[in-house]
Amino acid sequence: MQALIQKTAKALVQARNAVALTGAGASIESGIPPFRGPGGLWERMDPMEVAHIDAFRRDPEKVWRLLIQGMQEVLTAASPNAGHRGLAQLEQWGYLQAVITQNVDGLHQAAGSRDVIEFHGSFAWQRCLDCDRRCETHRVDLSRIPPRCSCGGIYRPDCIFFGELIPPQLLERSHQLMARCDVLLVVGTSATVQPAAMMPLLAKETGARVIEINPEPTPLTGRISDFFLQGGAGAVMDDILASVAAMRASTV
Ligand code: OAD
Repeated sequence: MQALIQKTAKALVQARNAVALTGAGASIESGIPPFRGPGGLWERMDPMEVAHIDAFRRDPEKVWRLLIQGMQEVLTAASPNAGHRGLAQLEQWGYLQAVITQNVDGLHQAAGSRDVIEFHGSFAWQRCLDCDRRCETHRVDLSRIPPRCSCGGIYRPDCIFFGELIPPQLLERSHQLMARCDVLLVVGTSATVQPAAMMPLLAKETGARVIEINPEPTPLTGRISDFFLQGGAGAVMDDILASVAAMRASTV
């Protein structure tokens, strides 16, 4: 493992355009449950009943009560972990260009990452189903379910539900990053939901080194990933950071 950490640190220090792709696993150590695997949300609920846009339009109150309200509470209580902080530090040192995240929790920005592409949107904002007005979640009256816009329309989190498209500008920016990327860190994603799961393949086609951090193998492991760093995001990022810091110190 230590050899893989060293190789990862070296790849990052030498990279010109390193990018990270993160998923729910990156926020597990912040107390936010994942979607799949042990303790995952989809073990307890059917995503087609609570996370599909048609289900929301059919019965917004049900989706707010079953899924959104609870998620909102967990996200509000969460703070960044060592994995988020490590990625922010890599960006600050100039070794990481951007983070593409499937997470809606805002924890990369809270940790200090500046260039974050929120591929699946964000729970920090609500959008009205009727007039399309956006409003910051902390300004919305959440004591009334479903919460309503001043026009009377129902608010929904400004995230991507199943059955919705990724906004074209986010997709385009992500494709551009993959087309130039020389190292892709894939942190805490099961790599099963498209089109995010395509990003490592696009990076690989560009010739990037794909480095995966996850306690469990994924469909990328051993096929697309060049290195598989098996472990939790926080501990593995701490080790990578220590190794990068040592390389920086030895070149000064
Ligand atoms: P998943 O819940 O599918 O996968 C979580 C991943 O995190 C798994 O591969 C775990 O092995 C890994 N993991 C567990 N503990 C970890 C730790 N401490 N450190 C790092 N990794 C850990 O989450 P995503 O891949 O993000 O979409 O799911 C993708 C999309 O599916 C989500 O954005 C969401 C969901 O349906 C929408 O809501 C549109």
